Amino acid sequence: MKALRLFSSAAVALLAFVLVVSAQTQAPPSGWPVFWYKGIVTNKAASIYNPTNEFIFPSVFHAGRWLKNPLAEWYIYYAPHDDPGGISLRYSNSLEGPWTEYPKNPVISRNWSPHYSVPHVSSPDAIWNLEANNGNGRMIMYFHGSNSVTRWAYSDDGIKFGYGGVAVTNAMGGPSVTETSYARVFRHPDTNSRYNYGMFYMGNERDNIRRIRLAESVDGKTWTVSPNYVVAPGPEEGANVSGGELWNWGGQHYIIYHGSSGKAYARTIDRTLRQVGKTPIVLFAGRGDPSGDRVAAPVVVTRNGQTYLFYEKGDRLGGTIAWAKMAAQ
Ligand SMILES: *[C@@H]1O[C@H](CO)[C@@H](O)[C@H](O)[C@H]1NC(C)=O
Repeated sequence: MKALRLFSSAAVALLAFVLVVSAQTQAPPSGWPVFWYKGIVTNKAASIYNPTNEFIFPSVFHAGRWLKNPLAEWYIYYAPHDDPGGISLRYSNSLEGPWTEYPKNPVISRNWSPHYSVPHVSSPDAIWNLEANNGNGRMIMYFHGSNSVTRWAYSDDGIKFGYGGVAVTNAMGGPSVTETSYARVFRHPDTNSRYNYGMFYMGNERDNIRRIRLAESVDGKTWTVSPNYVVAPGPEEGANVSGGELWNWGGQHYIIYHGSSGKAYARTIDRTLRQVGKTPIVLFAGRGDPSGDRVAAPVVVTRNGQTYLFYEKGDRLGGTIAWAKMAAQ
């Protein structure tokens, strides 16, 4: 009897252990978007600026809301990953495309005299900064170049940029940081914070594990890096996580990002950006895309009741910009 009880409690403990170890993702809450792959934004064969036949890191900007005479309602920025990179622009009146390539890409290149000359610039992220330009507002574009520094530039039309400066560097993350790139910037969700802007970016370290870090800023130009990680990869994600972005769904904030597993994930995050869910929820793993391609660098845009996911599809050095749409529920 005693032996049996001992055995069964051991079995229960083993079962609990198995459940914990296999529960690497958690089920999404009700009302979670079910995205279906719809197509490619950047047709490589027809591209004017296409130095390396690969494009990464979409950033969707609502030009019609913020700019005086935009080329179209929506802008999407992206860039090649490899040298020479180059921040590139397409535009469309519809989030469903088709997207027209700006004929004189790149709008920001790897040489910008006298500010820098680097092997590549990539990972654009454009936001509208309300306080800039004496409160009249201005686009601020974040991008890395090269991998050890994320910079910012500013623009009134999204095409011609003035150089701003350095936003975050390896040194700001501490002595073991070796890369500071793939930043996305958003309005700080904590109204009690003294900061107006938050940034998630990827920090690589000497252990060659890529984690997502947090920086905060009053003006979007001068940044303070938080010493703690926001997301470090777990068994689900693999060796690297990157492409962090803030997203609100159903009144809950999430950090959305991608892992080495080739999927995009979401974890809950509180408005201080410091309490992060331990178990990821799958955001998108390529449903409807028969290629089985990797999903990375997710951004979600909701407009007029329709919700879209823009992302980088394909292996890291053969990527292209793609979109998916949430099915009606
Ligand atoms: C982690 O990221 C680096 C750089 O993108 C890549 O070379 C490496 O293969 C990645 N590791 C895994 C396990 O995916």
